[in-house]
Amino acid sequence: MTEEKSTFGSRLGVILAAAGSAVGLGNVWRFPTEVGQGGGAAFILIYIFFMLVLGVPVMISELAIGRHGQKNVSHSFFTMSGNSRPWAYMGWYPVIAGILVLSYYAVVAGWTLEYAYQAAINGFAGKSAQQYAADFGAFSSDVFSPILYLAFILVLTAVIVAMGVQKGIERAAKVMMPVLFLCIAVLVVCSFSLPGVERGLTFLLKPDFSKVDSSTVLSAMGQAFFSLSVGICCLCTYGCYARKDVNLMKDSIHVASIDTLVAVMSGLIIFPAVYSIDGLEPNAGPSLVFITLPNVFQQVFADMPVLAYGFSLLFYILLVMAALTSSISMLEMSASIFIRKFNMSRPLACGMIVLVCMVLGTACSLSFGVWQDITVCGLGIFDLFDFAVAKLLMPIGAFLICGFVAWRVEEKTLRNELTNNGTIPQPFYPIYRLIVKYVAPICILTIFLRELGVM
Ligand code: PFF
Repeated sequence: MTEEKSTFGSRLGVILAAAGSAVGLGNVWRFPTEVGQGGGAAFILIYIFFMLVLGVPVMISELAIGRHGQKNVSHSFFTMSGNSRPWAYMGWYPVIAGILVLSYYAVVAGWTLEYAYQAAINGFAGKSAQQYAADFGAFSSDVFSPILYLAFILVLTAVIVAMGVQKGIERAAKVMMPVLFLCIAVLVVCSFSLPGVERGLTFLLKPDFSKVDSSTVLSAMGQAFFSLSVGICCLCTYGCYARKDVNLMKDSIHVASIDTLVAVMSGLIIFPAVYSIDGLEPNAGPSLVFITLPNVFQQVFADMPVLAYGFSLLFYILLVMAALTSSISMLEMSASIFIRKFNMSRPLACGMIVLVCMVLGTACSLSFGVWQDITVCGLGIFDLFDFAVAKLLMPIGAFLICGFVAWRVEEKTLRNELTNNGTIPQPFYPIYRLIVKYVAPICILTIFLRELGVM
């Protein structure tokens, strides 16, 4: 009876959809921003540690919870907990988190659309590096155009999700992922020919732990969760649509490997490029990618303008698509609850949610311009949303999810879910169990309390 279930037709469906959700602006835009602000290599090492110790186990847990219930997140928590009402309220977590994250993510997705447009009309040609910085500043602080792009992205996301996304995602991801990967690989090679390559690589590969403090650690943890789309039940939602013969542990490791590789490769593109531009610092923040990348294309292919044109167009189109497969998953996680719980039609649920996101997203967008002076606890509106999602909701959600599978769910139920009722061996199961039971909750709690100044 479920349109969702029937559409994840292949075993590959869930891995592709999860990879589509994971690989996105978090890798190409947020990761370099965080690495730049977190001091480079030391941040990356801590990030990889969190990816392995927290990100992957939480991903496995989310997929297992989702697949166990099959219907929706709320139902999954309910049945897996042995029919506990309070756990069913976890169904609201993806609704709130999905709306918050989509609201500000769509702003940046909108920026990529403008850059794809600029690439298409050859708008990057013949400009100096400083001009890219000035252009970006003017565009992002403008009142109207970023909001128009935001609306466009939200409508596009809503239309795809309203049509029933899984076949779309499955097919799009199958084509898009390898092309994006190839494109990024070529760009790494290109970036290595830039004059800033040595300083960029030093920044990325030589850890300086003196720059690490408790907030760097919280940021690295937040980035690991954000990049894998875990902690807010996004993957629980996709888990609901997964087939019973999928090897959830193996697939989670595949998704995390692809995701980390894309993130590190993005760093290898961005930082040599940063050091090739006079006056640009690696800690420049969210604008970094939008200033350095157009410059890489133009500098590397200075003698071959056709290639500069073709490459930047291809790259930005792919970036828009990567952003879309992530934003689709954000909308899907909120919409699926409305559809099931209130028997709403898909278009209605999607329409309502994106309307709310449009209002919140407009505030986020304006915080780069006319509303830049509005701050809460020292954070602008956009940064506040990002903080709330990556550094509050994701770690808290991850803590609850680990606590749930380790302490609430019967061990046999979990083992059966992960071994497909004993039909596939899971040699890493004991390690996974140890992590979700002790390591992950203690780790998350400690980092949290330290950041709050309690420890
Ligand atoms: N993982 C996505 C990215 O790296 O771009 C962002 C994301 C998707 C975060 C879905 C959260 C989420 F639920």
